Amino acid sequence: MYAAFRSIGSYVPSKILSNADLEKMVDTSDEWIFKRTGIKERRIAAIDETTSDMGVNAAKQAIERSGINPSDIDMVVCATISPDYFCMPSTAAIIATKLGLEKVTAFDLSAACTGFVYALGVAKAFIESGMKKNVLIIGAEKLSAITDYTDRGTCILFGDGAGAALISATTDKSEAIIDIHTGSDGSYADLLMSPNGGSGSVHDDLEASACFMKMKGNETFKVAVRTLTSDVVAILEENKIDASAVKHFVPHQANYRIIKAVGDALNMKEEQVVLTVEKYGNTSGASIPMAINDIYESGRLQNGELMLLDAFGGGLTWGSALVPFAGKGI
Ligand code: COA
Repeated sequence: MYAAFRSIGSYVPSKILSNADLEKMVDTSDEWIFKRTGIKERRIAAIDETTSDMGVNAAKQAIERSGINPSDIDMVVCATISPDYFCMPSTAAIIATKLGLEKVTAFDLSAACTGFVYALGVAKAFIESGMKKNVLIIGAEKLSAITDYTDRGTCILFGDGAGAALISATTDKSEAIIDIHTGSDGSYADLLMSPNGGSGSVHDDLEASACFMKMKGNETFKVAVRTLTSDVVAILEENKIDASAVKHFVPHQANYRIIKAVGDALNMKEEQVVLTVEKYGNTSGASIPMAINDIYESGRLQNGELMLLDAFGGGLTWGSALVPFAGKGI
């Protein structure tokens, strides 16, 4: 049994937070942000809109496009660092119930911006072992809830949104997800973290800002370029696939300069590289499925085309995946 990437869906909140808006909130400028990150704007969820609400909207689209009967879905995995509730219940369980999926295995996965690639690996393993047949994976983030809008080093980067994919069992090897790499190195934990609110917290009171992200941006940047480049080179080499055979290079949308550096190291042509960072910023676990949805909805993603996914995030974590699209293009 193999695992096939059947469909994609996405959701973005309607409210836009532009660089011009941020100029009024912190000491920054549109020019600085765009030059250093490639970001022009990001989406912000409504106050009463939760991570699970966004995940449900993305999932509904992915399910509909897969042609799979919702009652045949037997597992839901949600990659998020901004769950509806920290600790419990899992956002995946809430999403499953909101979708009317009964008694499915549902759990959240914490691998920050690499979450979607990790979730894809989990889905592949469950399907190939024969334990599950149709796994709904979701990357959903309400990062605005854990962003400190007085910290110009982080608040310019992050946005909200969700993406989802249906991964299904197949006996057709040509549809199979080829390979997934995932890794981590906790010795870099302090580069990007939410230091408060957990059992490692230094505070004994739970303030509103308990989960705000803190980041050493410049160091993160350098480790990201190094790790992403070596990881994609390794997965291509191990599978004897040349970068030119990749139709869509879908990197985590953190920063245009990181994406460009990794793309250049692989000699990727401009048309191979999928870019959404300008309009959505960094949406962590949601960024890769949102980017895949972008090429799907613009009619650029067709059945059988090879995608190379590549992510990097807090943990530190990283991951890459070689994935043929096994759905129907539009
Ligand atoms: N507007 C204006 N100036 C800013 C700024 C902002 N939003 N943020 C930082 N600066 C200033 C700094 O204070 C510093 O000023 P100084 O030289 O007077 O001390 C200067 O710009 C350079 O700061 P630095 O942090 O070295 O900038 P940078 O070129 O590394 O860009 C990031 C900062 C955050 C954009 C960049 O490091 C980055 O994108 N890193 C990766 C982050 C990331 O992708 N994280 C998620 C991983 S999944």
